[in-house]
Amino acid sequence: MSKTYTITAALPYTNGPIHIGHLSGVYVPADIYARYLRIMGNDVIYICGSDEHGVPITIKAKKEKKTPQEIVDRYHMNIKKSFSDFGISFDNYSRTSSKIHHETASTFFLKLLQNNSFKELTSEQFYDEIEEQFLPDRFLIGTCPKCGFEESYGDQCEKCGTSHNSSDLINPKSSITGNKPSLKSTKHWYLKLDEFQAFLEKWILEDNKGLWKSNVYGQCKSWLEDGLKPRAVTRDLNWGVPVPVKDSDGKVLYVWFDAPIGYISSTKEWANNNNQNWEKYWKDDKTELIHFIGKDNIVFHCIIFPSMLKAHGDFIIPKNVPANEFLNLEGSKISTSKNWAVWLPEFLKDFPGKQDVLRYVLTINAPENKDNDFTWKDFQNRNNGELVAILGNFINRVVVLTKKYYESLVPSKNELNDADKVVLTRVNQSIDKIENLLGNFKFRDGCSEFMNIARIGNKYLADEEPWKIIKEDPERVKTVIFISLHIASVLAIVSEPFIPFTSKKIKNILNFINDSNWNWIGLKENDFLITENHQINEPELLFNRIEDSEIQLQIDKLKKNN
Ligand code: 2FM
Ligand code: ZN
Repeated sequence: MSKTYTITAALPYTNGPIHIGHLSGVYVPADIYARYLRIMGNDVIYICGSDEHGVPITIKAKKEKKTPQEIVDRYHMNIKKSFSDFGISFDNYSRTSSKIHHETASTFFLKLLQNNSFKELTSEQFYDEIEEQFLPDRFLIGTCPKCGFEESYGDQCEKCGTSHNSSDLINPKSSITGNKPSLKSTKHWYLKLDEFQAFLEKWILEDNKGLWKSNVYGQCKSWLEDGLKPRAVTRDLNWGVPVPVKDSDGKVLYVWFDAPIGYISSTKEWANNNNQNWEKYWKDDKTELIHFIGKDNIVFHCIIFPSMLKAHGDFIIPKNVPANEFLNLEGSKISTSKNWAVWLPEFLKDFPGKQDVLRYVLTINAPENKDNDFTWKDFQNRNNGELVAILGNFINRVVVLTKKYYESLVPSKNELNDADKVVLTRVNQSIDKIENLLGNFKFRDGCSEFMNIARIGNKYLADEEPWKIIKEDPERVKTVIFISLHIASVLAIVSEPFIPFTSKKIKNILNFINDSNWNWIGLKENDFLITENHQINEPELLFNRIEDSEIQLQIDKLKKNN
């Protein structure tokens, strides 16, 4: 039955381009899920946008002697374009410096203020006397109270992932001047998270037990066991959504308060542009809200944002938050500052037309349950050994044989023997498995099962050897080619969520009819989509081998920077 889904992908910070870590953790899995649900006839919006506030952007602007707006303008366009070139099928990609977002976030804050969800508190906060500014979040560095890491930020430790208040840091210093900060008193608004402890315990620990991924569940459990405390949702900064209260000059909403509201404002923007009703996607109990994020965002999406939504009262809360672990690169942590990354715009330039190779490799090797490693050698092996040798080879063989024997006209099916029936059953079982895996956020396994269909096709051709019996048993060869073309049509359809560019190519080669049956649902409802005498197109290679020299170039490029 068709359902409504709101799928969100973490809004990327606009202080650098997108890299493979972002793609494998968030945008590729979310895209597979969104594409799959759309194909299955659901009402889906896939929402994202640039996260343009926050201290890292201010710090970058300071370093480059630019305004924060100049920094975010530069990267917003870069990120938006590279997502689109990579085939990420957002329904809307917005930005948090937009008017609609500022209005939405301010109104949200005011609603929480009105219904008494905040505590106003004046306290002493760290202040840099030289810079004459407060030191929220990344403006402060010190030792993490939990793991002892000496370079922890004021709001979050990148080593152990703990999120804390800056007053908890040991030996704090200003990240701008390196000085020991003084203390100065200032007023802020704190979300009374403690009031949501009981609700969160029931919703996450009881209702979602066994449903959410164990890494997500485990982090939430540990947070809830530590006990929730009120958390400041405003900051002394001049870049962000201004606190919409009189006499609050120099204060803005905390980036982690406004960013998730960005999902709502991006939906509103989409609805305005498409004459739709945004509320259906955020306020209807039957809508499933799914947040795709990396593991460092778990607390914000499972504890804080749901509490904000609950405190507001009008919104649904997420059905699932399938957070991924991290992707490493050639054995080391991806690092923007050390330039240890594969940047999407550079990949697109160095490997034109190879979006699907990267999509495939990142999916088959996704850090779903543990951190994983991307290596250029594996990228090459997966391309040459799987995409070229299994999928590309199968499609090419069957299309070439159809051309050679039947002038590219689909032959008649004739009588099926046991071997044909076994193959058809196995292919149907694979389709069912893929549905089940994708519906349960197991994209890695779903992707290998998809490749198994091509393996089944290759084995079938190798077993039946139509080229050996074309003379003595031409009627049997017709059946073998018919079944093989059927498998190719299955691959054209089930490949779409994973490798959409290739799916389109296979559909073109098979001359897919613009017919409501020639899709995933039609595949389930009909034994075969292809029919006798359907004309297919010329063979075309789907993938090319990647040579050692191309890989060496990438490895050298990485090493040069380090
Ligand atoms: O970690 C990050 O990159 C954040 N910019 C994610 C924000 S997600 C959401 F809340 F918008
Ligand atoms: Zn730590």
